[in-house]
Amino acid sequence: MNSNLPEIVFATNNPHKLEEARAILAGMVNVLSLEQIGCHDDIPETAETLAGNALIKARWINSKYGVDCFADDTGLMVDALDGAPGVYSARFAGKHCSPADNIRLLLEKLNGVDNRSAKFSTVVALILDGREHLFEGSVSGHIAKDLKGAAGFGYDPVFVPENSDISFAEMKPEDKNSISHRGRAMAKLAEFISKNR
Ligand code: IMP
Repeated sequence: MNSNLPEIVFATNNPHKLEEARAILAGMVNVLSLEQIGCHDDIPETAETLAGNALIKARWINSKYGVDCFADDTGLMVDALDGAPGVYSARFAGKHCSPADNIRLLLEKLNGVDNRSAKFSTVVALILDGREHLFEGSVSGHIAKDLKGAAGFGYDPVFVPENSDISFAEMKPEDKNSISHRGRAMAKLAEFISKNR
C-alpha cells in the first residue's frame, strides 16, 4: 500500500477480482476491499444488464459508506446460445451453483455444436466525488471442448481468447489481465482516475 495514493473501494466479494484489480491499478490507487471497510453485505444483483448490476453495487456502497468506489459485472455471451448466459452467467446452472456446475452445463449445451464463438464483457461502474461513470471492456474468443488450466476463476478453464491457443486458466495472471474484458475495462477506469485525481 502506498499512502500517497487515493483510496477507492472495489465493491466485490470475489477475491480473484480483487487481486486482478489491484494488479491492474497498482501504483495509481489503493484498492480497498469490502472487508477493509467492514462491509459484509450480500448485495443483490437484480438488474437485467451488466451496467445495471454494476451500478446497483457501486451505489449501494457509495450511499451506505460515503466512499469513492467501483463495482463490476461480467457476462459470457455465447453466439450459439443466442448470447446466453450473458447477465445470468453466475447463476447459469441454478441459484446456488458452483463454477464447475456452470462449466458442465455450458459444455453440455455446446456438445456437438461447431460454432463455439463467445465473448466476455465487463462493465465497471465508478462513483467518484458523487458522480457516476461507466467503462466497458470485452474480449472475443471461443469455448474449448474440455477444461484446460488451473489459474483464474469462473469460466476461465473453457474460454480461449482470440489469437491464442491456450485458455485464460492456462495464462499467467498478467497475460490474462493484459487482454481480458476486465483488464480492458479497468485500463479505461485507470486512465480516467489518473486524469481526474
Ligand atoms: P459476476 O461479474 O461476478 O457477476 O460474474 C458473472 C459470472 O462470470 C460468474 O460466474 C463469474 O465466475 C464469471 N466471471 C466473471 N469474470 C470472469 C473472468 O474473468 N473469467 C471467467 N469467468 C468470469
